[in-house]
Amino acid sequence: RRIMKKYIMTPIYYVNDVPHIGHAYTTIIADTMARFYRLQGHEVFFKTGTDEHGQKIEEAAAKHAQSPKQYADGVSAKFKDLWDEFGISYDMFSRTTDAAHEAAVQNVFRKMYEKGDIYKGEYEGNYCVSCESFFPSAQLIDGEYCPDCGKKTKILKEESYFFRLSAYADRLLKWYEDEKCILPLGKKNEVISFVKSGLKDLSITRTGFDWGVKIPPELNDPKHVIYVWLDALMDYLSSLGFCAGGERMEYWSDALHIVGKDILRFHAVYWPAFLMSLGLNMPRSIAAHGWWTRDGKKMSKSLGNVVDPREVANAYGLEQFRYFLLREVPFGQDGDFSQKAIINRVNSELANELGNLLSRIVGMSAKYSDYAINSKDVMKFFTAE
Ligand code: MSP
Repeated sequence: RRIMKKYIMTPIYYVNDVPHIGHAYTTIIADTMARFYRLQGHEVFFKTGTDEHGQKIEEAAAKHAQSPKQYADGVSAKFKDLWDEFGISYDMFSRTTDAAHEAAVQNVFRKMYEKGDIYKGEYEGNYCVSCESFFPSAQLIDGEYCPDCGKKTKILKEESYFFRLSAYADRLLKWYEDEKCILPLGKKNEVISFVKSGLKDLSITRTGFDWGVKIPPELNDPKHVIYVWLDALMDYLSSLGFCAGGERMEYWSDALHIVGKDILRFHAVYWPAFLMSLGLNMPRSIAAHGWWTRDGKKMSKSLGNVVDPREVANAYGLEQFRYFLLREVPFGQDGDFSQKAIINRVNSELANELGNLLSRIVGMSAKYSDYAINSKDVMKFFTAE
């Protein structure tokens, strides 16, 4: 088999929240994929990191009476420490406050601007700070609540630079014909209907707050901060040296994104359009998993129902916890987290089934072959008949 270079990515985590089971789930799936490909002999570059700019982080830092950078340093370290403790086999932990990333984001903006994909206009509509997402009024619930997270949105009317997303609709629809581009299939169909319902150009700068990457200085418009999602998505490329030395760009030819379903639109619509604008190839797959819930509600800091992954791993064992997360729900569906569920999986599958199998093998090998098992004989046994 051909050895390939493979790029596996988790989303980069917002630093307004401490890591919980939802984050651990995304990371453990990606880690499992990375380990799987390495076992097959492929050259894997596995990247995770933190998403540190934007209004949401600026507001969270202010609440803690810290500068955004101080605050981001603290929470980013918490993610990194947890992944280290969990033995996550990442090759790189990137941060959007790294100077090289910030320079790359400006360069990307410049490229798109020079290409004619960015123009200046005015945004009028609503903004959800929690999702860092724009919504036309018609999509809001009861005229003011975010259709994604249900929180109250803010009305924005401000000068903004726009990305010509509408120009990419046909090319996106063409790309969705690729069987494996978005997984699972049901999620892909949702993306296709979203695009078919009509794409508006995307506002990609904000004014009125400071915590982010400024647009290129030659545009003489210093009040504009680049939209945090453009900034964050570019991390996938800046981490490979895009718009700088390009030292790891060969990994981009086979890229796999693991994301939660809540951020699929950003990855399956905006991201490929940005890539098209930059003349780069599409990722091989964007795989969207479901949510961990507590009593049917998405686990999230704002609902106050998060479970600390460290506590679970300490109580039941790290391998048991990893097994549970991957085994409990089919990829793409939601799963309700409970102690009972994890105890059941550990007892019935790991202890009873696998444990029994192992002890029988050990017992039989003691009885019949003095513990010496020739793997070829075992294969003969399984392939007899
Ligand atoms: N910063 C953005 C991603 C930018 S990527 C260019 C972001 N960060 S996040 O910290 O809010 O979420 C990151 C990941 O955690 C997502 O994949 C999300 O789905 C996952 N989860 C957060 N809560 C979750 C659950 N309750 N259950 C499962 N995963 C969820 O979005």
